[in-house]
Amino acid sequence: MIHAAEELAPDGVEIHIFDIDDIPLYNQDEDTPDEPESVAHLREAIRDADALLLSTPEYNYSLPGVLKNAIDWASRPPGNAPLTGKPVAIMGAATGMSGTMRAQLAWRPVFLFTDSPMVGKPEVYVAQAGQKFDREGRLTDETARTLIRQLLENLVKLARETNAKGDRSLATTGIGAVSRDGDGPKGLTADAPTEETAASRH
Ligand SMILES: Cc1cc2nc3c(=O)[nH]c(=O)nc-3n(C[C@H](O)[C@H](O)[C@H](O)COP(=O)(O)O)c2cc1C
Repeated sequence: MIHAAEELAPDGVEIHIFDIDDIPLYNQDEDTPDEPESVAHLREAIRDADALLLSTPEYNYSLPGVLKNAIDWASRPPGNAPLTGKPVAIMGAATGMSGTMRAQLAWRPVFLFTDSPMVGKPEVYVAQAGQKFDREGRLTDETARTLIRQLLENLVKLARETNAKGDRSLATTGIGAVSRDGDGPKGLTADAPTEETAASRH
């Protein structure tokens, strides 16, 4: 899904993918200014980004704990959390019929609490994912590809609107996204340029 997003990103948008394999289990005793290095990288990536794109599987009718753990780290420290004010979009693929609908429903209140504005539509639920990707892992379903393109366009729009409000917590030049997709936990950052940076790249 994330590689499809890379392919389908609007002009001027850069997507950065990060591996979250090294993110430790959240432990408040370790959440000090001397945070674990992998956590510092994750926080920096999200902080430097204009928005966050999450690609989620569905585990047992809900969100996957591995990805939630990374998001929990990014939700701290209070008052200076990378997720505060960070625009978020979510998508997902699952082998079952729901296409991660229940997982995505579980994610929404998480980002309500982190004060992260979310893209509402389109809803990107890729069901029966086993039939929607080719042998190389490329998303072949045209409907899903169209929806991902629209989701990214709406995320860029939300990032620009949020940046225009002058919120310093995300007045940077990137979109950040974290995912657990395909062959293991990953993080994803995508640059969604502001009007100025978009202009400077064209
Ligand atoms: C522990 C576990 C629970 C799962 N629960 C669900 C579920 O509730 N609904 C569903 O559609 N798929 C479920 N799946 C399938 C996953 O959503 C997913 O399609 C599959 O594991 C591929 O994940 P990946 O994208 O990380 O490779 C589950 C998989 C695992 C490992």
